[in-house]
Order: sequence, then structure tokens, then C-alpha cells
Amino acid sequence: MKILAIESSCDETACAIVEDGRKVLANTVASQIDIHAKTGGVVPEVAAREHVLNIIPVLDDCLQEAGLDWDDIDAVAVTRGPGLLSSLIIGTQTANVISYVKGKPLIPVQHIVGHIYSNWLEREEEIEFPVMILTVSGGHNELVLMRGHNNFKVLGETRDDAAGEAFDKVARILGLGYPGGPAISKLALEGDATAFSLPRSYLEKGSLDFSFSGLKTACLTVVKEHAEGGISEKFKADLAASFQEAVCEVLSDKLMMAAAKYPEVKEIHLAGGVSANGRLREMIEAKAGGQIFRYPTAMKFCTDNAAMIGAAAYYLYQLEPLNYRSCSNIVPTTEFEI
Ligand code: KG4
Ligand code: ZN
Repeated sequence: MKILAIESSCDETACAIVEDGRKVLANTVASQIDIHAKTGGVVPEVAAREHVLNIIPVLDDCLQEAGLDWDDIDAVAVTRGPGLLSSLIIGTQTANVISYVKGKPLIPVQHIVGHIYSNWLEREEEIEFPVMILTVSGGHNELVLMRGHNNFKVLGETRDDAAGEAFDKVARILGLGYPGGPAISKLALEGDATAFSLPRSYLEKGSLDFSFSGLKTACLTVVKEHAEGGISEKFKADLAASFQEAVCEVLSDKLMMAAAKYPEVKEIHLAGGVSANGRLREMIEAKAGGQIFRYPTAMKFCTDNAAMIGAAAYYLYQLEPLNYRSCSNIVPTTEFEI
């Protein structure tokens, strides 16, 4: 089954064609990073206007890349939310129109569920349930127990900033530009992770929730204290490394706590934009011992992409094909519930 998927929840206009939930036949993205770098973050109105300009060329490129035409496509999938409402509308309306005009079933996908399914992409081995998943992005941060397809139990989530958001804000404090995650992780390679002693927030005993706002404020305080003498490149690298260490330690510890709580868990997965972080992968790998640990097979499947939406849509469709018809009007939502 070939699904054409659209993702436009934030600042990437993305389209992909995925076969049977795993094989990526085409994956096209129009990135807005250069535009939003100028403002140090995403301006929703600007993002929405860019989606309008990009969506049709991205769709055309996608079909061309796969060497397919509309008759070859079995269904259309789209991110329904959460995300920026004005950005989501462009994707959902495009999908609604395609489904109506071409008579294809329409499958709405929750964005975080999409990230979870990024671990199925381009992977041949069977994934064994139950799976414990840490999804960690700019807009969300959850621990999810997945007992089967479309069977999710959210065990913990962020009470304030998501980890990716903290990366972006600390990068901004250090003048590293947008997006902050890749910039911090690159700079951290040259820094000393023990240079600054930063807080690790574990919240109440046994809590699987997250909180990164205190860490972000601590970084700001350190920068202010050192501002008078001028901030050196070494200072920036040391703070980047110390910050990254603190975030990754809490994320990996909580993931292990969650996995230990459910001994029946067969695999541990990492997903979302921050899953691109090498130090985080390294820490989880070390703490997981012999347990199966997976993260997306390519960097392009870590950050927002449409292939993950196509993967999720395939498994949703397999469970309840009659739920998804053409001409069903998908309305975008900012709801986090999965
Ligand atoms: O999943 P994603 O593309 O968008 C959301 O759904 O939010 O995640 C984007 C986030 C950004 O905050 C970005 O700074 C972070 O992922 N990110 C990273 C890395 N690459 C991207 N964070 C840490 N290390 C990285 N290498
Ligand atoms: Zn995302």
C-alpha cells in the first residue's frame, strides 16, 4: 500500500510516499530554517505563508522523485496536530482537497504518533512490543508505553519546556542561532561537560514528568555572571557541553526508570528532533545494557518529516480501514492527546 503523506505542523513543508509503512519511495522537504534564523525562531504567520507557497511544488517533486502518479497512490495521510494552527491548516486543507478530488481514503495522524513511527522507517527487522519510547522534540517531550499498534499510554510529559525548546533557548542565550540543538551539540564536542555544575530536575520521587525551565534559567544566570569579563569561545563550548550533559542525563535516566517499571518491555526507542543528538544516544546505549535500543535510521527521520506520518498512517489503516474514507473533512487541532 502506497501512502502519500503531508506534514506542515511547524516550519517544514514536507511530503513523502511510503510503501507498507516502512519503505520510503520519496521524501521531499522545503525547509524554512534560513527564513526563521533571521528572527531567531518561528513566526507563525510567516511559516504559514511559506507553506502556501511551497506545498504544491513539494507535492509535485515528491511524485516525481518516486516516479509515480496519482493513480499509484492508495491513500493520503496528513498531520492533524498538535502544532501551529496556521501551519497545520495548509497541510490539512491540501490533503482534504486531494482526497476529495482523487477519491482517496484520508488518514489523519497525530504528530507525536508520527514521531513514534519514525522508528519503523527503512527498517526490516520486526519490532517487538511492548516498546518504551522517549519522544523528545522542540514542542513536545513524552515517555510513552506502546503495547501494540495505536496502543499508547503516556507515562510522563514535560511540565514546562520541552528538551528541544531548552536547547533552542540556551543556544539563543549563547548567540548560536536557530535551530539551537545542532549548534549546541556541535559546540559541546569542544567543551568540558563538567565545567559548570547545572541543576538536574527529577521532580518528585518516581515522577516520569520532565522540567527544563530551571536548567534554562541556570544557564542564563551563569552567562550574566560572566558577561562583564566578556564571553570567550571556551566559555560557550563549556556551557554548551555542561547544559547538554544535564539534559541528556535526566532524559536517559527517566527513560530507564520507565523501562524498569515495566519489565515486560522488549525494546527502547528514541524519537523526535532531539533523537539526532549523539550524546543522548550514547548515554541511553550505555544505560540500556543489552536491551534493544533503536533510534531513527537516518537523521532526516529524526526531525519533522512526512515519511513518519506515512508510516503511522499505514498501521492505523491496517487496524481500521473503514475509518478512513475519501471526502472526510480533517480539521486541524492543537490537542496533545494521543
Ligand atoms: O521534532 P522536531 O523537528 O520538531 C518538533 O516537533 O518540535 O524537533 C525540533 C527540535 C528543535 O528544538 C531542535 O533544536 C532539536 O529538535 N534538535 C536537536 C538536535 N537536532 C535537532 N537537539 C539536540 N541535538 C541535536 N543534534
Ligand atoms: Zn516534531
